[in-house]
Amino acid sequence: MCGIVGGIGKCDFRDYVLGGLKKLDYRGYDSAGLAYVKEGKVNLYKTPGTVEALASKVPAFEGAEIAIGHTRWATHGDPSEVNAHPQFSQGRLVYLVHNGVIENFRALKTRLKARGYSFLSQTDTEVIADVLEFHYLTNGKDALKAIRETEIDLEGSYACAIIFEGDEHLYFMKKGSPLLIGVGDKAMYLASDCLPMIKLAKSYVDLSDGDYGCLSPEGLTLYNEGRAVEPVYSERKIDDYDYDLRGYPHFMLKEIEEEPMVLSRLIDNYFDPESGEYLFDPSLLKAMKEADEIIFLACGTSHYASLYGLEFMEFYGKKASSYIASEWAYHPISLSKKPFYVLLSQSGETADLIACQKIINDEGRPNLAIVNVKDSTLSRRATYSCLIYAGLEVAVAATKSYIAQIGLMALLLGALTNSSSPVRHLEKLGEAIEDVIARKEDIHETAKKITGARDAFFVGRGSDYSAALECALKLKEISYIHAEAYAGGEIKHGPIALIEKGTPVFGLISEVDTALPLRNNIEEVKSRGAATYIVSSLSLSSGKDAFVTKDVKPYLNSFLKVVYGQYLAYYVSLEKGLPIDKPRNLAKSVTVE
Ligand code: AGP
Repeated sequence: MCGIVGGIGKCDFRDYVLGGLKKLDYRGYDSAGLAYVKEGKVNLYKTPGTVEALASKVPAFEGAEIAIGHTRWATHGDPSEVNAHPQFSQGRLVYLVHNGVIENFRALKTRLKARGYSFLSQTDTEVIADVLEFHYLTNGKDALKAIRETEIDLEGSYACAIIFEGDEHLYFMKKGSPLLIGVGDKAMYLASDCLPMIKLAKSYVDLSDGDYGCLSPEGLTLYNEGRAVEPVYSERKIDDYDYDLRGYPHFMLKEIEEEPMVLSRLIDNYFDPESGEYLFDPSLLKAMKEADEIIFLACGTSHYASLYGLEFMEFYGKKASSYIASEWAYHPISLSKKPFYVLLSQSGETADLIACQKIINDEGRPNLAIVNVKDSTLSRRATYSCLIYAGLEVAVAATKSYIAQIGLMALLLGALTNSSSPVRHLEKLGEAIEDVIARKEDIHETAKKITGARDAFFVGRGSDYSAALECALKLKEISYIHAEAYAGGEIKHGPIALIEKGTPVFGLISEVDTALPLRNNIEEVKSRGAATYIVSSLSLSSGKDAFVTKDVKPYLNSFLKVVYGQYLAYYVSLEKGLPIDKPRNLAKSVTVE
């Protein structure tokens, strides 16, 4: 949520800032803005809407010395020009862009009002600018002192890039929201992630919470809690490969079709075929074995992936539960004596999950973060961390990361049970996904039939119910069709009242024990007018099914139904002409509660 780009030194800043904001737009936003310093003067441009709309307002500005840019996902106040960032202080001495939420902004506003400040916007960010200005003026225009004192005043999360009018440096501060420094040839950069800088930066510094400091064209000066800190430089972070559409029209399509490759990369990272050994940290496996309950916590798609983790732990004979992180954070009850927590998150920055992890860490309980982003907040704070190696996922709708999360949990099951079988099973799953990919046009044809639907339902039993939940989430988030998942047996207990003539209902069949009752459920809705589509596994299929997936191991069969659901959502959105990779109101990484 919210993207920050900034830099100082010799650089084509118009290109870097606008291009960089474009690269960050996967995070989700509804307004954009930038400020640059030329000949000591700050120039400001902001707009509701897109980066393209901003670009049309911004003239060429060769020779600028400093620039900052921002994409804003509205939290306080509507997505208007006045609320867009950069925000500036009352005396126009401070301009800043911010990602995060200032929890005590109302109290700070009251204090500032008593000091004669008034406000133009509804944002919490404007308050930061004014607090900074107040401390700047009371500290003889010492920007670093002003930042330190502001940090003490602020409660909440922030990553900020800050310009002080008349000062030759670019300042920053960070707590709870990601911010990265990039070291260039004749310039220094900063951004919410490395994407805007990958062509310019030779190395990076991942800022830690409490870090603040300033950039000059020659380098970085870093402090934490008032003390100078030696920066830790790391090499290039990602491959351009991930941020290249490679001929695909959308990242979502590219990412679905990377799933087989992602599974084999995952296996390569966690299994050594020579020795037949898994490569997990032995102390992680020990801690999981010793636990009396495995508790999964996650949000959205990651939560639906965790339902499989729960099932795998039950195969292993371990008591397991799965909770929505935003619920558990307010009711963190565990009756177990020795719980072990598994936190699943593509981004590793999801605020609700970070709140859970704080509770867990405060209790001194072991936890494993399963993330896609190396060095993300969750992984840094976890007792153990496993990367899913899905590669950068750009589309807001999670696809390959979901498959990789489940793949990783299947490999963990293999390691816990000393069985290499999951490796072979995942290889077969990859081949079966290739088969779905090869027949995607059949799914496209079905998608065309449901584009006009108001509602759609996905029905499954057992693991197919977990798959149905993810299929419904995919359809609603990118096609804007109201979609729900139901456990087959529940249909008669209420949802059947929603069935009208032509309502699309998808029945998912992967399990031998529930195949027949599920078919009966589908017959019941069909006889009430629903347009039904059965997606079944080959050995459980009938000639009339809409789509049939290859047979893989029974515990993996239902994932192929999710791949079907991913394509279905993609094609419905395509047919409706919607912004597939950046659906309205959504952000890739949900860094606010
Ligand atoms: C997935 O398609 C969604 N965009 C969303 O539900 C996402 O899975 C959720 O916000 C959790 O994100 P995380 O995996 O980065 O923690």
